[in-house]
Amino acid sequence: MHILITGGAGFIGSHVVRHFVNVYPEYLITNLDSLSYAGNLENLKDVERKPNYRFVKGDITDRSCIESLFEEHRFDGVIHLAAESHVDRSIASPQQFVLTNVVGTVNLLDAARNCWSADYGGKRFYHISTDEVYGSLGNEGLFTEETPYDPHSPYSASKASSDHFVRAWHDTYGLPIVISNCSNNYGSYQFPEKLIPLFINNIRLKKPLPVYGKGENVRDWLWVIDHASAIDVIYHRGENGETYNIGGHNEWTNIDLIRLLCEIMDRKLGREPGESAALITYVTDRAGHDLRYAIDSSKLQRELGWQPSILFEEGLERTVEWYLGNQEWLEQVTSGAYREYYETMYR
Ligand code: NAD
Ligand code: TYD
Repeated sequence: MHILITGGAGFIGSHVVRHFVNVYPEYLITNLDSLSYAGNLENLKDVERKPNYRFVKGDITDRSCIESLFEEHRFDGVIHLAAESHVDRSIASPQQFVLTNVVGTVNLLDAARNCWSADYGGKRFYHISTDEVYGSLGNEGLFTEETPYDPHSPYSASKASSDHFVRAWHDTYGLPIVISNCSNNYGSYQFPEKLIPLFINNIRLKKPLPVYGKGENVRDWLWVIDHASAIDVIYHRGENGETYNIGGHNEWTNIDLIRLLCEIMDRKLGREPGESAALITYVTDRAGHDLRYAIDSSKLQRELGWQPSILFEEGLERTVEWYLGNQEWLEQVTSGAYREYYETMYR
């Protein structure tokens, strides 16, 4: 079994690569990544020398590169994570989101179809998506697989679009696909533009913690390692053509999460209680900021027996420990272009 994982040098992708390389030594795993600002081969140091792992630097928007890669390797499966993934960047520069998330996905779909069309048996195209395609909830209710799409940000609109293309390749060409839509992930190796690693880094450096609006928005947080285990289960046992929501039944308002993070950081850094929370600074809200995301993952639990392995408080504690134990990683990824991004975004 030869599986192509796209975006494997990013946050979730690196955990998925690590999981598949370690759990399935009999599989060959090829990681295709363009090494954008978010891609980092340091995330995969522990698996880079494994005999069942290969890295290819390539861009999914480059159609001929993708076609020749499929011709050369005849993959049995694809797990597609490569994407532009940050909502704030999508507000500032939407074009790249259309190119990577929509055009890049269509390039992969076409390459897989051309390569497999003689015999789809045993093949699988697994598209990794987000709960943000469903839009925003009020105070009640959960996103199910039947919730109509209602994306608001350029990021979620591009992911919604890519989901539609994946389903279209199934319905039109019979491509064997599966899709999952997951809630917000947290854990090690996440680029510090997203809430949790950004705030850990700022607390470490005693910099302000920029809370958008009143901090009342709600997100449903899942440990990235639990996402990787769900992807394994869905890749192997999900029904062809089906969609599975993945989430941890773990809703937090941003401000409650930030206060918990501050408490943990005070403890771990030996600071006075309240020292980190004093850095909280309310700033202008994000444009089109979705109020609440919450996932109903009962289909995945019922049909495929998956469930999250860890409580949020424990996962967050472990996550903080990882960043504090890997401050060189943080220093490396926040040097250079990151500084410019930060100044422009939060000035
Ligand atoms: P990330 O930004 O950390 O990583 C994305 C990876 O894709 C990087 O390694 C980057 O170099 C690579 N990439 C970007 N453009 C590329 C291109 N044109 N060609 C090849 N590689 C390219 O993102 P992430 O948070 O790990 O998210 C991975 C996937 O999971 C995305 O599809 C995202 O929409 C989805 N997702 C993320 C979350 C979350 O909370 N982070 C939740 C649900 C779903
Ligand atoms: P983020 O990690 O960007 O994920 P997403 O927008 O995909 O949910 O943001 C999580 C929440 O935290 C979201 O409601 C926006 C908020 N947020 C802030 O308040 N300040 C920040 O600096 C960032 C990056 C996010």
